[in-house]
Amino acid sequence: MRIDVVSLFPDFIRQSAAVGVVGRAQQRELLQVETWNPRDFAPDRHRTVDGRPFGGGPGMVMLIDPLRAALAAVRQAAPEPVHVIYLSPQGARLTQKRTEALARLPRIALVCGRYEGVDERLLEHEVDEELSIGDYVLSGGELAAAVVIDAVGRLQEGALNDAQSAQQDSFSDGLLDCPHYTRPEHHDAWGGVPEVLLSGDHAAIRRWRRKQSLGRTWLRRPDLLTQRALDDESRTLLDEFRREYARPNGAAGNDRRNKN
Ligand code: ADE
Repeated sequence: MRIDVVSLFPDFIRQSAAVGVVGRAQQRELLQVETWNPRDFAPDRHRTVDGRPFGGGPGMVMLIDPLRAALAAVRQAAPEPVHVIYLSPQGARLTQKRTEALARLPRIALVCGRYEGVDERLLEHEVDEELSIGDYVLSGGELAAAVVIDAVGRLQEGALNDAQSAQQDSFSDGLLDCPHYTRPEHHDAWGGVPEVLLSGDHAAIRRWRRKQSLGRTWLRRPDLLTQRALDDESRTLLDEFRREYARPNGAAGNDRRNKN
């Protein structure tokens, strides 16, 4: 997959895409991230990329032409059609489902705004989709673009070492992830790990993990449960979790974080 990023801060994009799973995906040539600075496409000698907003008000708005020319160069840089995304708080919320669909495309371009945003006409004529990473305002689209690159890059076939781990992610089946434990089996200050994980009984472990996923989702993100239908086993497991949670020293009693 190829991702082109139009940004006034290309170094930030390049550096954030060079580390970890996404960096490795690039080294393995599963993912190609290219950056384009609209300043390089500004026609004047001051390399102007922004202007005052018509109608007055604070801040500056990014000009059409440097962005338009940068996107024309993006489109020309490879033969596949490009799905162009603008990052902004006005966009649709990015979800794992949307991330999975984007990860299947051969090419996307991410346009990062700064200042008060970009001229609306650019969005109308050049942008296919507007995405937000959450209900808060960043000072530019770069951090959001880095989030999209990471979320999409790690889903490229071969990017993760353990083929299963993307399937086990939080949200991949609409639920939060279960708790994880590693050595030591018994910690001097904080005690042991749940017995079932040491039992070697794979069916019991799968059941326990599923129950924890359901329980955590019920406790922390009940909105996710209303969005999906539960099968019979899941309903039974969630009922068990709820009963245990209601007992003060129940097996689920330790998950009391974020309860406000
Ligand atoms: N640019 C500024 N804030 C943003 C947000 N919340 N999501 C995506 N892009 C942004």
